[in-house]
Amino acid sequence: MADGTSLSTQLWIAGAVEDYMRQCMGCHGRDGLGAPPAVPRLVGFMGYYARSVEGRAYLVRVPGVANAPIDDLRLTALLNWTLDTYSAAELPPDFEPFTTKEVALLRAQRLSTPAQIRRTVLTDLAKAGLIDPGLVSATLKSRSLNTSNDADPTK
Ligand code: HEC
Repeated sequence: MADGTSLSTQLWIAGAVEDYMRQCMGCHGRDGLGAPPAVPRLVGFMGYYARSVEGRAYLVRVPGVANAPIDDLRLTALLNWTLDTYSAAELPPDFEPFTTKEVALLRAQRLSTPAQIRRTVLTDLAKAGLIDPGLVSATLKSRSLNTSNDADPTK
């Protein structure tokens, strides 16, 4: 951590790291590599979703995020930390961090078919020229359509 980082920022980061380890690492791994094809990697990828309105919503609505047993404030900090840590380079230049209000609204809108929504979001991003279409087809090809969040977290 850089010198000069304020104490409140340090505490904020510490809380998010701990929440990541408890709520996310079992499936997505310490380095955000996931366990493809069942569990997608976050590293170098999740920031792309923030490039569209639907993708941004998907980041909160995806079951692993929306259903995490932590309150809206902590989930917001966790999600912003995860994006910044694993995928800052893929975020759009005008990216605004998630607000607690936004997270509260979106997480209440449960996704019943995450794999399908994921496919639609990624395909639309590719059509809009916001992500390399080759990257999208490689990602989608490696996942069967009916894969859901019942993936084995023990890899
Ligand atoms: C039980 C395993 C599991 C846990 C725990 C889990 N996830 Fe996931 N995550 C998945 C799977 C599987 C997907 C793919 C979408 C789906 O089918 O739900 C996914 C998708 C995602 C995505 C969208 C990435 C993409 O390319 O589709 C993000 C972002 C994400 N998870 C973040 C998190 C965060 C942050 C946490 C902790 C709060 C978390 N996940 C906890 C399994 C998990």
